[in-house]
Amino acid sequence: MAIELSESKTVTKAELYEQLAGQLASLLAGERDLIANAANFSSLIFHTLPDLNWAGFYLMKDSELVLGPFQGRPACVRIKLGQGVCGAGAAKGETVIVPDVHEFPGHIACDSASNSEIVVPLRKDSRLIGVLDLDSPLRSRFDEEDAAGLETLVRILLAAANL
Ligand code: SME
Repeated sequence: MAIELSESKTVTKAELYEQLAGQLASLLAGERDLIANAANFSSLIFHTLPDLNWAGFYLMKDSELVLGPFQGRPACVRIKLGQGVCGAGAAKGETVIVPDVHEFPGHIACDSASNSEIVVPLRKDSRLIGVLDLDSPLRSRFDEEDAAGLETLVRILLAAANL
């Protein structure tokens, strides 16, 4: 799939994620603080990937997901494992793609602009650290290429972190 960037340069989705991986690695170089790195990660994603209205993290604390660094409108703070799309991704330990959030049972609506969503778990060895969550106003915004690209970016974040 091709993506039209704002400067009207067309790149494939795979190329865009490849560029993002390089940019993220440079951005995180020499810094091991997870919160600082997750904050820059969410900003980079939010301002680079088209058609997002929310991009950020929920981090595991005391057996629930707690809002972490993000870009977008204010969001709900605590999500229990198994609740909503984030809780489903965390409980499964697998990426969850939701083409239409209105059809996802238990979806937690933080921003009424959201129509599709992807959640990528953050795991260090077998430990669940949290999830990356992206929302889009477009239906079916996310596909397997996004899942693969975002999983690579999450690996870069986790490799840099002091966990
Ligand atoms: N929609 C999510 C909640 C988080 S917001 O999208 C930022 C969910 O159902 O888990």
